[in-house]
Amino acid sequence: MKIKILIPAILLGLGFMLASFQGGSDWPVPEKYQKMKNPVATSKASVDQGAALWKLHCKSCHGKDGLGDGPKAAQLDTPAGDFSTKAFQKQTDGALFYKTLEGRDDMPSFKKKIPDQEDLWHLVNFMRTMGE
Ligand code: HEC
Repeated sequence: MKIKILIPAILLGLGFMLASFQGGSDWPVPEKYQKMKNPVATSKASVDQGAALWKLHCKSCHGKDGLGDGPKAAQLDTPAGDFSTKAFQKQTDGALFYKTLEGRDDMPSFKKKIPDQEDLWHLVNFMRTMGE
């Protein structure tokens, strides 16, 4: 009798472990953000603005090119991810916006630090330039 409960419990545990090994890809994004349209068309001006914000707020952990190799990266419990990968770039603009807005664990929330949401979209446009 007991074994019937144990097996699903173990499977569930394994599932969680696997999910946490995959880095950011298991980070659930609410439907509303998943489908959110980027209101800021990409342009040189927008990417430049995003790059300036990146230098100030993100580079220390994520590295200059988003490879996860910033000077603070070694102190993080969770890897900051590699933004040049397909797995990262295939996420929607809304998903990247949501993750930057809300944060999780070692990833700070930028709701207060970057209060103008338009700036977050500039950052999304800049992160799009990191794909291989
Ligand atoms: C203090 C270190 C730190 C700073 C500063 C930081 N991040 Fe992060 N970031 C992380 C970590 C760690 C993760 C992985 C979090 C996780 O998977 O739970 C992450 C994850 C992310 C993700 C999701 C990655 C994925 O694979 O889906 C995005 C997008 C992101 N960061 C954008 C930014 C932006 C934009 C900035 C600057 C405005 C920034 N981060 C600043 C540490 C940082």
